[in-house]
Amino acid sequence: MTSADFGFDSLSLDWLRAKPGAKWHRHGVPWAAWVADMDFPPPPCVDEALRAVLDGGDLGYPDWKHITGGSPASVAFAERCASRYGWTFDAEHLRELNDVVQGIQMVLHLCTSPGDGVVVHTPAYPPFLHSVEDNARRVVRVPALASAESPSGWRFDHDALDQRLSAEPAKVLLLCHPHNPTGHVFSEAELRQLADIAERHDLLVISDEIHADLTYSPAAHRPMALFAPERTVTIHAASKAFNLAGLRYAIMHVGPRWVRERLASVPDHLFGAANLMGAAAAVAAWRSGDEWLRAVVAHLDGQRNFLADLLAMYLPDVVYTPPMATYLGWLDCRHMGMGDDPSEVFAQRGVRLSEGPNFGPEGHGFARLNFATSTEVLRATVQAMAT
Ligand SMILES: Cc1ncc(COP(=O)(O)O)c(C=O)c1O
Repeated sequence: MTSADFGFDSLSLDWLRAKPGAKWHRHGVPWAAWVADMDFPPPPCVDEALRAVLDGGDLGYPDWKHITGGSPASVAFAERCASRYGWTFDAEHLRELNDVVQGIQMVLHLCTSPGDGVVVHTPAYPPFLHSVEDNARRVVRVPALASAESPSGWRFDHDALDQRLSAEPAKVLLLCHPHNPTGHVFSEAELRQLADIAERHDLLVISDEIHADLTYSPAAHRPMALFAPERTVTIHAASKAFNLAGLRYAIMHVGPRWVRERLASVPDHLFGAANLMGAAAAVAAWRSGDEWLRAVVAHLDGQRNFLADLLAMYLPDVVYTPPMATYLGWLDCRHMGMGDDPSEVFAQRGVRLSEGPNFGPEGHGFARLNFATSTEVLRATVQAMAT
């Protein structure tokens, strides 16, 4: 099936504007291209799975603990990692979560102390910075450098990081892989180098791979855990690729034994339990959603390039390279004379984008645009930005 069959290009503006979720509702502007939700309805297989749970009439406590091999979602996740990425592991080392950021904060809280350094590639998804700073840990920034040679338009200086860690030790490498907001996909060579750095400087790696399934060919996602299995905690969810963020379900694979022991030392109920409907949706997405996923990725692939055409036509001073993954465009507006936060100017023109400065100092003069919508809505959004 193609994107036409799933209706990605036939979104009704009335339907979008009537949606109660944060994206279209919160700011009350005509065009919403900020938070990382797609404008499309969920995959039909997820719809069916949720209805089947309701039709079954049992919204009581699930009996996952007594299923051999783990809960249905952990088994589906483990099988998917093996078939999609050649990454195999013991499903006993999985832990279900409500959301990805919860997993990041749990591990930082249990495995580091106030003042410890946490390496983050910046600009960074804002909750990365908050998760470190609000817990009195220290962000060790690795700034993105513009690079015409890199397919994402960005590169990171891993050699400089290596040297810097000798003088300024850190405890954790908090990886956003693929990287939000630049859309950079770390290559196998980069992952190997980061694994070496982690080994040399004794870093725990937390790898947030929530955008992995939204990687555009010829780039390919390789899990960090393949390169540093004993050091890596991987956090994943079906929520970005299948557009399920409100269902609150994520999953964490904990490679290092000492981290598993720390997690096991926490009283069971402190972090809560995963949601029945979220888990059912994740199982459906991972087991039956590949056709929808292929179609949505093909549509987004078109959108990332269409955005380049639209910007060239309407806002030629914006610098933009289509991302290698994610549906997020990182717009360099520094030649536009719009100050630190160009999203303020675009908001006055009726378009809500994500504020660049929230991604750290490297985001000054930038704005992030979510292009996971129809071509017509994207065209109207960019036209409005240029008014
Ligand atoms: C890199 C990254 N991690 C995590 C999240 C949020 O995931 P969750 O809602 O499961 O915490 C997002 C959402 O946009 C994201 O881009």
